[in-house]
Amino acid sequence: MSSVRRDYDPAELGGGIYPLLNSVVVPRPIAWVSTRSADGVDNLAPHSFFTISSVTPPVVQFTSVGAKDSLRNAVATGEFVVCLSPEQLVEQVNATATDFPPHVSEFDAVGLEREPSRLVAPPRVAASPVAIECRLAGTRDFGGGSTVVFGEVVWVAVDERVLREDRPAIDLLKPMARLGANEWSTIGEVSDRRRVPYAELQAQA
Ligand SMILES: Cc1cc2nc3c(=O)[nH]c(=O)nc-3n(C[C@H](O)[C@H](O)[C@H](O)COP(=O)(O)O)c2cc1C
Repeated sequence: MSSVRRDYDPAELGGGIYPLLNSVVVPRPIAWVSTRSADGVDNLAPHSFFTISSVTPPVVQFTSVGAKDSLRNAVATGEFVVCLSPEQLVEQVNATATDFPPHVSEFDAVGLEREPSRLVAPPRVAASPVAIECRLAGTRDFGGGSTVVFGEVVWVAVDERVLREDRPAIDLLKPMARLGANEWSTIGEVSDRRRVPYAELQAQA
């Protein structure tokens, strides 16, 4: 039996495209973005529109939907830190998504300990196992209020307790993911699968 698909035209959906894409581009990792404002307020906010943009040079990106403090600070100071959002901190991650005014630091409002970064001014979240320190590598504004923020990775610090055989282990990192609407998820079942080289397929034929 063939499936019956429902079709969506972004031109007709307007703002409705946002919850739709949010529900189907899943699961998304949650960048816990730390920035410092030009006048010295430490800001922290989760951003799930987050990924790796480039390997050489190493670049990551997050997207600000609207003009938020994280975007303003990253552009004003040229620096940000992406911390991993682990299961054990899910309530704190969510609490930093409250729309605190710019003069209020989420670190203090939520009660999160800072840890100094190595190369940039915005602090790390001390309790997060991973900090990716970035210098602004540009922004891309598509005109409708969403701005992609690119950051060149200048330092990565990983808590040794989440390393196994010198590699960050997924069961120790315990990252949270964002799904549609207000849904969150944990990592679920993990499996290992080798990528088969074409030459191997040919040799078997
Ligand atoms: C799990 C989660 C993921 C989020 N992802 C994004 C995102 O990708 N982009 C965005 O603009 N806002 C996102 N938000 C909302 C922001 O965190 C929220 O608007 C926050 O107040 C922004 O803080 P700021 O003004 O200090 O930057 C997300 C919220 C949560 C809880």
